Amino acid sequence: MSTISKEILNRLEKIAPASSCLHEPTFNGNEWNYVKQCIDTNWVSSVGKFVDRFEAMLAEITGASYVTAIVNGTSALHLALQIAGVKKDDEVLMPAMTFVATANAVIYCNAIPHFVDISQQTLGIDSARMDLYLSENAEKREDGTTWNKNTNQRISACIPMHCFGHPVAMTPLNDVCKKWNITIIEDAAEALGSYYQQQHVGNIGKLSIISFNGNKITTTGGGGAILTNDQTLAQKAKHLSTTAKIAHPFEIAHDEIGFNYRMPNINAALGCAQLETLPNFLQQKRVLAKQYQTLFNDMSEVNIFNEPAESRSNYWLNTLILKDQYSALRNEIIELTNTHKIMTRPAWNLLPELTMYQHCPSMNLPIAKDLQQRIVCLPSTPGLELN
Ligand SMILES: Cc1ncc(COP(=O)(O)O)c(C=O)c1O
Repeated sequence: MSTISKEILNRLEKIAPASSCLHEPTFNGNEWNYVKQCIDTNWVSSVGKFVDRFEAMLAEITGASYVTAIVNGTSALHLALQIAGVKKDDEVLMPAMTFVATANAVIYCNAIPHFVDISQQTLGIDSARMDLYLSENAEKREDGTTWNKNTNQRISACIPMHCFGHPVAMTPLNDVCKKWNITIIEDAAEALGSYYQQQHVGNIGKLSIISFNGNKITTTGGGGAILTNDQTLAQKAKHLSTTAKIAHPFEIAHDEIGFNYRMPNINAALGCAQLETLPNFLQQKRVLAKQYQTLFNDMSEVNIFNEPAESRSNYWLNTLILKDQYSALRNEIIELTNTHKIMTRPAWNLLPELTMYQHCPSMNLPIAKDLQQRIVCLPSTPGLELN
């Protein structure tokens, strides 16, 4: 066992007590009260005042004009892609290092994930290198659409993912996507409460999604949301997520194939209480991020990832990044800390390395491959603090 791994454990023990998870839900507001109201009134399912309230609160927090509450983030992404116009066999650009749901949602649309490399500064898509890659591998046709010259498929969309809550540099990415006429759908699953250039993430893409899974900064048990500033797209999101049912006093008819994707009222009730507490969570998480930085500041073998330039991150997950020559220690550190009941995890295995995505198009991924070896995700529940 290396002294470096032991030293990391010693330091982590000052912040994370035994049995620390990566991110536990915290219920210390109106959760019981609101959920009880649903049960007392029988309004537990897909309609109810808490769904409306949850959507209004989320619009207020994010600045998005329209919000549709959805059963989970994966379904939200699936529907957002469909509404954005992603078609069968289209290729959709996304970072190689993301949760599998980002690629799965593309497959649900019968489209094809196309992996791009990430930036050391943001852990999200590196737009400059993506642009260079497109210049060499794609062509813009007369009708303005962009096609992969190697596969002869259209590249219609791009999903930037705000990794661990840290905003992608959206201005340069937006410029590149505009140049190539590629639609942006933001995967902001992890990034509620994160800002890029003073604007809440999720407002630059045509549509964006947030997750309210139990491990996120605020939870509805399971849940998601689609955000957009386009009224027509918002109406589509509501209609298609409610089985495309035509509004009528009693007739039950549907005008297209929709989905049963609306968030139930009982989940939204939990969500309203959680959103009320979000400012506290965000503040606690900034304190925790600072404390991790102080704690590891004088340890030359590691860095604690800091929010990117022009951004204010929600610090959903704090991450320790081993310096290049120490990457071989990653598994030892993860094993040691977990043996001491402090949960740490690596970043996701890169998606193009998973069996089902090995055949998908991909640019060279030197940065994603390197960073994936060196990242250790740390306990980040709001309220953890240095003792
Ligand atoms: C990057 C990313 N995309 C999508 C999702 C899917 O969200 P959900 O778990 O709510 O389906 C998650 C979260 O779990 C995620 O981290």
